[in-house]
Amino acid sequence: MGVLKRYGELLPITPSTPQVNLEEGSTPLIPLPRIGDRLGVKLYGKFEGCNPSGSFKDRGMVLAVAKALEEGRRALICASTGNTSASAAAYAASVGIPCYVLLPAGKVAMGKLAQALMYGATVIAVRGNFDRALELARRGAEESGCAMVNSVNPYRLIGQRSGAWEVCEALGGRAPDWHAIPVGNAGNISAYWAGYSEYHKLGKIPRLPRMMGFQAEGAAPLVTGKPCPEPETVATAIRIGNPVSAHLARAAVQESGGEFNAVSDEEILSAQRLLASEGGVFAEPASCAPLAGLVKLKGQGRLPEGITVTMVLTGNGLKDPDTAMGQVGRPIEIGDSPEELLKVLAGRS
Ligand code: F0G
Repeated sequence: MGVLKRYGELLPITPSTPQVNLEEGSTPLIPLPRIGDRLGVKLYGKFEGCNPSGSFKDRGMVLAVAKALEEGRRALICASTGNTSASAAAYAASVGIPCYVLLPAGKVAMGKLAQALMYGATVIAVRGNFDRALELARRGAEESGCAMVNSVNPYRLIGQRSGAWEVCEALGGRAPDWHAIPVGNAGNISAYWAGYSEYHKLGKIPRLPRMMGFQAEGAAPLVTGKPCPEPETVATAIRIGNPVSAHLARAAVQESGGEFNAVSDEEILSAQRLLASEGGVFAEPASCAPLAGLVKLKGQGRLPEGITVTMVLTGNGLKDPDTAMGQVGRPIEIGDSPEELLKVLAGRS
């Protein structure tokens, strides 16, 4: 069941809102006992890579596109580090309207670029970073009347609250102690906090979690407290220097008693390998910033023993095969004889 159907009564939809649906949401909350044991916590990953376009963006995009159609808009526009564009392009294709996506030239993972092109979007590579592309997209939306579907569109963040609601339901009517999440343009952390707060007000959960936001060291404006003019990180999804929802994210962290922390590219990649090799889950680099952060906090003695922690694994690892292949060995190639295979199995190759 898609997000509009599953959570219809909590969303601003009316009888005239079109039922857009790619069966997004309802993603698994995967227990990660081997990694949790290492860290001394009960650890879960909300695997948003299972969404139809492979990231959490689909939860908000479905509502933003439904509302755009309801308002009579006939085209979409967005700037993106890759996942928003893949998601917007997918929904535009499913409802049959054009989609324009602005990407920082040369800085988008190959899988995401392939998605936007396959879904049939008009892909515009901007010689500039994401922050600049976002300014351009806003201008384009104002002048052209295209619906802007970045997270400045309020429906995006409302739809993304559904992730928090699903976590609470999967944990049996409670929130985790810590909610760990990567932060780029700062929309998703704000949406999760709004989702948890709403469930708390409705009496569906007894307590709120601490919101723990993680950024890459080279793109950490919320950690340093000032915009980063030249953001740089291997986690291209969160290569953002001036987050539009910074104010909401700061409020979420402050109200929940949480923190922002930064992790290095090396720590992110090491966490990506740990998640895959000891968790069985392949998530893209940005999604692994929270695990990198938990490992770091554990090392500093700042991770409380025995707590329940959920990490949002925001995007599928398959989106960025180049970064993955840069970290691993190559296959062992053999001829087609059983002898050669048996040699490998015996560890003697
Ligand atoms: N993780 C992934 C995989 C993302 O694609 C993004 C953002 C984030 C985390 C950060 O979420 O921006 O809400 O703080 N991607 C956007 C995009 C910017 O264009 O796809 P945020």
